Amino acid sequence: MLKRTVHGKPLVYLDSAATTLKPKAVIEAISNFYSDQYGTVHRAVYEMAGESTAKYNAVRSKVQHFLQAKSSDEIIFTKGTTEAINLVAFSFGEANIEPGDEILISAMEHHSNIVPWQLLCERKKAHLKIIPLLQNGELDLAAYEKLLSSRTKLVSIAHISNVLGIVNPLKTIIKAAHERGAKVFVDGAQSAPHLKIDVQDLDCDFFAFSGHKIYGPTGIGILYGKKELLDQMPPYQGGGDMIETVTFEKTTYQPSPLRFEAGTPMIAEVIGLGAALDYIESYGLDKIHAYETGLMQHALKKLTQIEGIRILGPIENRTSLITFNIEGLHPLDAATLLDLQGIAVRSGHLCAQPLLQHFGCSSALRLSLASYNTIEEVDFFCQSLTNTVSAIIL
Ligand SMILES: Cc1ncc(COP(=O)(O)O)c(C=O)c1O
Repeated sequence: MLKRTVHGKPLVYLDSAATTLKPKAVIEAISNFYSDQYGTVHRAVYEMAGESTAKYNAVRSKVQHFLQAKSSDEIIFTKGTTEAINLVAFSFGEANIEPGDEILISAMEHHSNIVPWQLLCERKKAHLKIIPLLQNGELDLAAYEKLLSSRTKLVSIAHISNVLGIVNPLKTIIKAAHERGAKVFVDGAQSAPHLKIDVQDLDCDFFAFSGHKIYGPTGIGILYGKKELLDQMPPYQGGGDMIETVTFEKTTYQPSPLRFEAGTPMIAEVIGLGAALDYIESYGLDKIHAYETGLMQHALKKLTQIEGIRILGPIENRTSLITFNIEGLHPLDAATLLDLQGIAVRSGHLCAQPLLQHFGCSSALRLSLASYNTIEEVDFFCQSLTNTVSAIIL
């Protein structure tokens, strides 16, 4: 991908917050699995099935270590962050949410961390409350404290907003929620690719991320949940693998994680995710993060020199993405013109319409970085954007 051209120009890929490109090691792990080692998991005694099962289970342990979870039984394979949120909204919601209960999310959430809770609240006649933002886009923590009550059953919050790139003060949020007896779900889609996660230290009750944003394949994500909570939650879907015994009169279920993994799972995708985590570990997430932060700060310095630019969110405390608007230049026009120069950036509502409304806009441009980006690419992007602005506005 990094060698390909777009409209005859070398590709400059700056949309890794949407999805990352894939290292060769990930592509090869998936290809080797299909070409040489293919077999189902958990279901058969023959050698290939045994090999597949061992590889598949090894990834669960890898994810456990990646998130510093207590047990691999706390790691559930899902399709992605979105499915992980829906799983908890359905299953935890079914068991724990009563009419009149409250669920708190913030005004900076991705649509995936809004809609499943709206659906739950509609089903259960519960109330969805929104933690407001300060003018600069940071969470209004004083308002959060006031919103928490004995009716609050769950707080679901992004670790890092996919628009602002800022890191939310999770420990403060989690501690305050726990003091009121509420559980906390952390949407880690934008943090897991950049920050070291320690779910035990955070003390969050649930944490989710997507494989495709962390150098792994599409169709695989992770839900972490505290074992004692998962074991009390009813199944999300029914089918093979999640059962202990089935009769026509009664079915009994496996404990977690298998209880939440009905049907033949995404074996190749799990193996690909394992290769992605190995890839990250081979460089070290700390080093990757430091490198990306350097690129982001370089981009920030250059972007702030462009006339009419407005960067959404505070400048400090941000990870490797920058969302902005330029007065007089529609984000879709800018993205189209940049595409003609080989540059891939995200434009539009960024799946966070309420957050964009907070900033008084309905669309924006976002540049997001990963370990494979270079300072030359950032310079090329900033120069191309400056040229575009000059050609169109000045
Ligand atoms: C903060 C955040 N949450 C949730 C999601 C949804 O992730 P997925 O589409 O991989 O399920 C995204 C994807 O952009 C995101 O950035």
